[in-house]
Amino acid sequence: MKIHSAIPDLRAALKNRGKVVFVPTMGNLHAGHIALMQQARQHGDTVVASLFVNRLQFGPNEDFDSYPRTLDADCQKLAAAGVDLLFAPGERDLYPEAQQYYVDPPAIQNELEGQFRPGHFRGVATVVLKLFNIVAPQTALFGKKDYQQLMVLRNMTRQLALPIEIVGGETVRADDGLALSSRNGYLTADERAEAPRLYRTLCTIRDAVRAGERDFARLERDAAAELNAHGWKTDYIAVRQQADLQAPGAGSPPLVALAASRLGTPRLIDNIEF
Ligand code: PAF
Repeated sequence: MKIHSAIPDLRAALKNRGKVVFVPTMGNLHAGHIALMQQARQHGDTVVASLFVNRLQFGPNEDFDSYPRTLDADCQKLAAAGVDLLFAPGERDLYPEAQQYYVDPPAIQNELEGQFRPGHFRGVATVVLKLFNIVAPQTALFGKKDYQQLMVLRNMTRQLALPIEIVGGETVRADDGLALSSRNGYLTADERAEAPRLYRTLCTIRDAVRAGERDFARLERDAAAELNAHGWKTDYIAVRQQADLQAPGAGSPPLVALAASRLGTPRLIDNIEF
């Protein structure tokens, strides 16, 4: 696997590489990322991963400085997963001057995650558009664990007419149901034992809706109360339409229950489609 940090070097390395498939990451890779790399292989000739902790998508009180940076271990995992090229730019490669042009997603950027992380999706969309311009992939993969991010990026790609197919990768879970996440590393042993409750709570919502329950507000309230009674501090639990993350309308649109809740230091997010 070749590693490039400078944009011109990566562009040169990408000449005559056939169909390019791209998986952007912020590193600290786990089995969920590796599953995306393997899925990527099925979509083209050259698999490119990127590794960049993007300052623009972190709020002033978030964990940008302490976000785990594990470049050597990540490179080994990517090479073992068969990734062809890694783009691992430094801050000055990607932001040689203060970024003044942004992608400003529509109102959904202020809901769910956005309500608690103002500016987050603006930072994500901006860096992803920039990475798309550098890598020029035909296909890009993003994990469904960041469900709202996947939707924002899919819509950005469509509305800006980028010639890129966006593919979602299924969430990879530990045996007890906890969604794999770089932030799970912040959990103490006791918190790690408690953490699967988040997914179980989402499964309870799914099962209730499948059984005919339509009082979504009550389901959301009960689920938050269940988590909070076990030491969580819940930001939101919401049942939304998969297509646009709006509140469920008439009929039986495909739904997704999304949650973000803090357990000790880490803030965990998860979702379940049904
Ligand atoms: O999901 C992530 O790891 C990041 O938000 C992304 C898409 C790499 C942009 O920095």
